[in-house]
Amino acid sequence: MLDSVERTISLIAPAKINLALHVTGRRDDGYHLLDSLVVFAHIGDKVSVKRAPVDSFEVSGRFGCALPSDETNLVLKARNALRARFPDKAAPVAIHLEKHLPIASGIGGGSSDAAATLRALTALWGIETNELAAIGLTLGADVPMCLHGQPLIARGIGEEIEGVDDFPHVPMVLVNSGGATSTPQVFSALINRDNQPLPGLPRLTTVHDVCIYLGQTHNHLFSAAEKLSPAIGYAMQALRNTDPRLVRMSGSGGTCFAIYGSDQEAEAAAAALKRAQPGWFVVATHNGGVDLGPDR
Ligand code: C5P
Repeated sequence: MLDSVERTISLIAPAKINLALHVTGRRDDGYHLLDSLVVFAHIGDKVSVKRAPVDSFEVSGRFGCALPSDETNLVLKARNALRARFPDKAAPVAIHLEKHLPIASGIGGGSSDAAATLRALTALWGIETNELAAIGLTLGADVPMCLHGQPLIARGIGEEIEGVDDFPHVPMVLVNSGGATSTPQVFSALINRDNQPLPGLPRLTTVHDVCIYLGQTHNHLFSAAEKLSPAIGYAMQALRNTDPRLVRMSGSGGTCFAIYGSDQEAEAAAAALKRAQPGWFVVATHNGGVDLGPDR
């Protein structure tokens, strides 16, 4: 496929939200087995790629300066992994990452950026492959689910994905009160887990159904994460004060989310939280607004 030199492909890398996260065991290599209900927000980072005379990588956005722009960045690891697999197709490329999501915060920013980079570059380089999830998994346990990009249950270490059809619209607010959490540290501080899988998922048609179901579930990483980063407790309490249906931490933290009965309630809660805590990351959102293309 011949692309014009000017063609830019831009994709949103949506925030990943673990509505429920149960730890069900531990593999011999130290990775933990999970059972997690995951949705994707309609907000996220943005990855843009275009052909260029030489490779380049630029990072901007509110959280851009907190991120390394060297080869340790998951965006460049994704580019390198795809290029290593398809060296004949992988012409030099200029990549721009707009980093709107907080770093190392439990909403999959890095994994979602890597997934968006893989998708954007396969389109730009004209690569047709069914190996993206396998390539993604070499970059991180959450990358395959971010490639899926729609409501799902993740098992294994996160790579066994079962899509969930017809998930209702769920209004939410995401809050991060600052301070990155280290996923390996949170997992290794995990104690007293009960190894219970998620209860079977019934058909969920309303926010009420979602909250009833989530009421029987947990985020098993919460206590360990809050001990390591007490600011998570402040975010949880601030969200509770806005009278939501449910409050919980996502992933290994520290971003927390609350669920509301309507978009208006979520927007009012976000506005109040922003006024009270101007330094925090606060955003009203909902699940599932980003179309990642027909071959996800
Ligand atoms: O795969 P990823 O690089 O995102 O994982 C970061 C770290 O988080 C791993 O090295 C591991 O310590 C921990 N982890 C885990 N179980 C998982 C996913 C991550 O223990 N399912």
